[in-house]
Amino acid sequence: RAEEIWLIVGVGILVLSMVITGYQGFAKSMGPPSGMETLDPEKVDEHELFSEPGVYQVGENKYEVVMTLSAFQFTPNNIEIPVGAEVEFIMTSKDVIHGFQVAGTNLNAMVTPGYIQRISKTFDEAGEFLVLCNEYCGIGHQIMGTTITVK
Ligand code: CUA
Repeated sequence: RAEEIWLIVGVGILVLSMVITGYQGFAKSMGPPSGMETLDPEKVDEHELFSEPGVYQVGENKYEVVMTLSAFQFTPNNIEIPVGAEVEFIMTSKDVIHGFQVAGTNLNAMVTPGYIQRISKTFDEAGEFLVLCNEYCGIGHQIMGTTITVK
């Protein structure tokens, strides 16, 4: 009968919309997008990428900054790179979620334990850039910072 069919259709749409909403909430709560490289946050120091944080030249004008973040410091600290360098920052956290924001630039990333964050930028102008943690990470959050010197 017509009423029953419409009732079933109505309930079906309701259930479907609840499933979609629920799934979106679930997907959002999963944190960083799938496809991000992962690692064991307890074993960062033994990881092939992160055993020696530092600034590495990987091409004629290309650099990698391998960086670990932990309460409340960036390692390595006080980075120096030449003007015009194309820099890839490869980062992970050893404890809680930290932020990596370079003041005056568009560099801004969340660094989550268990995940490898990669962002790149070419530094065309000399200067000193302030790096700040912009995710609340504990009592020392306010003092968590360093600099990138481009010269
Ligand atoms: Cu690290 Cu806030």
